[in-house]
Amino acid sequence: MLRKIHTKDLEVGMFVADVGRTWLNHPWKTKSRLLTEREEIRELLEFGIEEVYIDTEKSVYKKNSQKSDGIPLATPKLGLRERSVPKAVPQSKPTVSLEEEIPKAAKAYNKALDTSKALVAACRMNKRIEVGEVQENVNELIESVSRNRDALTALIKLRRFDDYTYTHSLNVSVLSISSGKSLGLSDAELSVLGLGTMFHDLGKLRIPDNILNKPGKLTDEEFAVMRSHASLSAEILIEQKLAVDPQVIEVARYHHERSDGSGYPDHLQGDQIPKLATICGLSDVYDALTSDRVYHKGMPPHDALKFIYGLRGAHFKPEWVDRFIQSVGIYPPGSVVELNTKHKAVVIGINNRSLLAPIIKVVADPHGQLYTRPKLVDLSKPEESQGWIIDKVVPADECNFRASDYFDLPET
Ligand SMILES: [Fe+2]
Ligand SMILES: [Fe+2]
Repeated sequence: MLRKIHTKDLEVGMFVADVGRTWLNHPWKTKSRLLTEREEIRELLEFGIEEVYIDTEKSVYKKNSQKSDGIPLATPKLGLRERSVPKAVPQSKPTVSLEEEIPKAAKAYNKALDTSKALVAACRMNKRIEVGEVQENVNELIESVSRNRDALTALIKLRRFDDYTYTHSLNVSVLSISSGKSLGLSDAELSVLGLGTMFHDLGKLRIPDNILNKPGKLTDEEFAVMRSHASLSAEILIEQKLAVDPQVIEVARYHHERSDGSGYPDHLQGDQIPKLATICGLSDVYDALTSDRVYHKGMPPHDALKFIYGLRGAHFKPEWVDRFIQSVGIYPPGSVVELNTKHKAVVIGINNRSLLAPIIKVVADPHGQLYTRPKLVDLSKPEESQGWIIDKVVPADECNFRASDYFDLPET
């Protein structure tokens, strides 16, 4: 019998059947093993794996204070050393329900999208950037994320039909604000981050179209021109003499810098890269990978996160990658998943402490028959999950329903 358990409650002698992270990697060569030493539990915790599935039949651990299925109710503290990583801030409970926040988030998103279009137009014509307007939009995005962070992240997943030129910066802004929030940034820092991310790729407007939109491989010379966009973004902001925090310009200039010095334009390394630029860089890679473009379809979020996980260490500090994944969620709101019983469900919200067990709406039975009243289930609560586990992600084009239908998105 499989049973979900907090990693901190594991004991030597238990059989771990699944560490969950199929692609996210984990400290072991296989996903299952019989625990023979405490070091193995420590490794899981250090990888940020907070819950695992154990097989109670294969477990040899026995204790007096155990439940009938052989799993102890309480275990002694492991006495682990503190991890020197930026702690994820426990997500405060949403003050507003998702249903209530979606229309507000959509309003803020649409307004910011209009501003993003106006911003591009102003830059193309060398006109002044209306920074006050952008700041106002950013503040509204921050307020929405503070009320319920899942609404805007669901929106950017579900509404990918607009032009990438305008949506990309806005999506990077939303993702950065959301992960900045879970990293415990202050509202003032979020405000700087939001503004910097909205401006981060303005320099691309100065890159010739034949290079910017070239469908084939870029030559070395063309790459060099393309790479100049980060410093050009900063130059535009300086030329405009905007009354913004200098960190806004840093976000724009350094969003392609990487931990190992392989980034550009200044080949900064490790801690030389400003924190806000790192958050922008992660969100930038994620949005670029998951967005549909003219020539190719975007990757599913879990594949994009797998790719980003591969950059852990070399391009981004491991702890920042972990926190980013924690804030975006392995199954972001708006994803369609298949459960172990073949039921289909739409992910509605992330559980920060249990990324593998989000809040879902079960929308179809194992034969694909849609329910008239989809059931809302928090997979992290055993009394609600009834043994349901997410088996896999279902691509949107393989579904006989649209995930967006379960979010009551307002008409645009
Ligand atoms: Fe960029
Ligand atoms: Fe970008």
